[in-house]
Formats: sequence, structure tokens, C-alpha cells
Amino acid sequence: MTLLLLSLFALDVPVDQDAVSTEEVAAPDPGAMAYASCGGCHGAQGQGNAALNSPALAGQDAAYTARQLRNYKAGIRGADPEDVYGAQMRGMSNVLVDEAALVAVSEYIASMERSAPAASDADLSAGQAAYANCVSCHGQKGEGNPVMNGPALAGLDAPYLERQLEHFRAGRRGAHAEDPWGASMVPLAKQLDAESSAALAAYIASL
Ligand code: HEC
Ligand code: HEC
Repeated sequence: MTLLLLSLFALDVPVDQDAVSTEEVAAPDPGAMAYASCGGCHGAQGQGNAALNSPALAGQDAAYTARQLRNYKAGIRGADPEDVYGAQMRGMSNVLVDEAALVAVSEYIASMERSAPAASDADLSAGQAAYANCVSCHGQKGEGNPVMNGPALAGLDAPYLERQLEHFRAGRRGAHAEDPWGASMVPLAKQLDAESSAALAAYIASL
């Protein structure tokens, strides 16, 4: 090793002094730093980890993510005794010490690239037909519609999607007086049953 280093120095490679002296070390991104506490469950690339019940986050609209994090912290989401996984996330939300960290991590998540869905040869036609009722707020391809405050659904795994629909239906999410956007999902979820939710979730997971 020493010999190799010595021989590299001996090569006397010309060095552009200006480039070296003016180059600044990039300041660490506060959002990326805050995300260090999240990757263990949500994946280093925000791809999610269904085995840990942790949904994909990558590419999600920053305003939506920030709202959810505020809701977890305030007990508007994840406080229902039957919302076991929401409770896990509620605990984690307190890692974000202040509003600046919460916003920074939400912006970092929005900048992450969403991974492509796994190919499926299941019959998704029933879910596809039912999804017509969701397009106005969640987008034709599940890309979300910030104007309607509808988050992206593409990239979320089917068990997570089914669970959220069940939470909206059962009054575990969207029932709090300070959750108007969650409340807007409740009547829509109530039009679904377990079977149609499963069909929708399978279709959305393929987007
Ligand atoms: C111990 C595992 C764990 C860690 C660490 C964790 N989360 Fe979560 N997170 C979860 C689980 C589980 C859920 C799903 C909760 C549910 O089903 O309602 C979740 C849900 C979320 C949601 C809601 C997503 C949506 O589509 O509505 C956001 C946003 C989120 N987490 C952000 C974060 C951020 C940011 C961090 C780091 C500060 C973090 N999580 C750390 C387990 C974790
Ligand atoms: C009128 C607009 C509107 C329509 C139509 C709508 N949604 Fe939503 N949906 C929302 C909003 C707003 C939210 C975000 C709620 C929040 O902030 O907690 C949401 C959230 C969700 C979530 C939770 C996402 C997450 O990351 O946790 C799921 C799942 C969902 N919707 C599924 C559906 C499905 C399936 C349909 C069609 C049957 C549908 N929505 C139709 C407005 C709508």
C-alpha cells in the first residue's frame, strides 16, 4: 500500500490549483440527515418495506408528507388504539425535533425517485374499473393531484393501501376534527367493502 501511494505521488500529476482551492465541500442536506432515522423501515431509497409494514415514501408530494408527519405528532393520525402500525410511526415522528426538520425531510422524500412496480399477471380489471372514482384526486396513473390535496398512490404496496382504506372506513383515520383532508376520504372509503378495497389496492399497486 505504501509503495503504491509513493508511486502515485511519483507520477507528479499536474493539479489545477484553482479548482482545488475554490471547491467547497457541499453542506450536508438537512433533509437527508433527518432521513437517516427513517431508512431502517422505509428503505434507504424510500422504496418501503412491506415486511415492516412501512409504505414507500419516495416521490410523495412534500405538502402531503409534511401534513401526515404533523398529524402523527399531534395524535391526529396513529392515536387510535387499534392502529398498531400508525402508533409505531407516531413514535418515530417525534424524532423530527422541529418544523424545520419536518419540512426538510418531506422535501428530501419528494426528491427521491420512485421505483417501478413489480410486474403482475393478476386480473386487475375490477380494480381498474373502480379506480375511475379515484382519478380526480389521485391522478390517472396514481401520481396524485396536489390541487385536490390527493397524495400519490402509485408506489404504495397493496397491504398498506387496504389497511388505510379500512382505517378510513372504521373511523381510525380521518375522524379527527382537525383532519379535514382525511375526512374527505371517509365517504369514499365507506362506499367500498373488503373485496372492492382489495381489488383497488391490487390495481393501484400495479401503477
Ligand atoms: C420503526 C419503523 C419506522 C420508522 C423508523 C419510520 N417509520 Fe414512517 N411509518 C412506519 C409505519 C409502520 C407506517 C405505516 C403506518 C400506518 O399503517 O398507518 C409509516 C408511515 C409513514 C408515513 C405515512 C405515509 C403515507 O403515505 O401516508 C410517513 C409520511 C412516514 N412514515 C414518514 C417517516 C419519516 C419521515 C421517518 C423518519 C423520521 C419515518 N417514517 C420513520 C414505520 C416507520
Ligand atoms: C375528492 C377527492 C378524493 C377522491 C375522489 C379520492 N380520494 Fe383518496 N384521498 C384524498 C385525500 C385529500 C387524501 C389525503 C388524506 C390525508 O391528508 O390524510 C386521500 C388519501 C387516500 C389514501 C391514503 C394514502 C396514503 O398514502 O396513506 C388512500 C389509500 C386513498 N386516498 C385511496 C383512494 C381510493 C382507492 C379512491 C377511489 C375509490 C380515492 N382515494 C378517492 C382525496 C380523494
